[in-house]
Amino acid sequence: MTTARAHAGRPSTSATAATAGGDADARATLAVFVSGGGSNMRAIDAACESGAVRGRVGVVVTNAADCGGAEWARARGIPVLIYPRKKGTTDGLTAEELVESLTREHGADFVLLAGYLRLIPPELCRAYENRMVNIHPALLPSFGGKGMHGENVHKAVVASGVRYTGPTIHFVNEEFDKGKIIAQSVVPVLDDDDYKAVAARVLEQEHLLFPRVVAAMCDDRVRFRPDGVPYIVDSD
Ligand code: GRF
Repeated sequence: MTTARAHAGRPSTSATAATAGGDADARATLAVFVSGGGSNMRAIDAACESGAVRGRVGVVVTNAADCGGAEWARARGIPVLIYPRKKGTTDGLTAEELVESLTREHGADFVLLAGYLRLIPPELCRAYENRMVNIHPALLPSFGGKGMHGENVHKAVVASGVRYTGPTIHFVNEEFDKGKIIAQSVVPVLDDDDYKAVAARVLEQEHLLFPRVVAAMCDDRVRFRPDGVPYIVDSD
């Protein structure tokens, strides 16, 4: 297997190396960042289990050691890293340690931000350029940026009067919610919707869209237009 990193000129890691060695079943190692329940991570894991995604959740990173996503990972023997380090303590990793651990110790091919609510350090953006994606629960570039996370997004969507919303998956760069958009899904905002109804409808689509994008990354089906905008080519 080759991966999207080939387009970004990144060095080989485990998945590509395995292909060079002739292992057609090589699976990409996924590092998933969570701060909450981790339902997107579980959807991705289920797609790995079914074979729809040629990857495996190899390591989980969280700022909230006791969140549902972290508990889920520990119960499956998936290593959980804490980031960022808590001020004045040695609990959790520094940015340099995080990059070192993901690249060397865990051999992560891709980083998936699945409801992670803290800033991503520039070191990680550089190490995983075009290999790190985030899911945002609205149609970027609308309803993104500072403070736009969780229910705030869906409240703003309903208050604005827009009739359509839906998840966006984008590459992560050093500017919050500004990386190149890879894929979106559209869902209607109905006349009698409250923000909870909108959130539920969007989350349902997140669970379909995220595995689809991760599958494309693992299969090397992410391409770039001449202006740098990424897109997915369908599998045969
Ligand atoms: C999702 O709505 C995601 O778009 C947002 O945070 C939520 C995470 O949900 N960034 P879960 O932890 O995957 O259940």
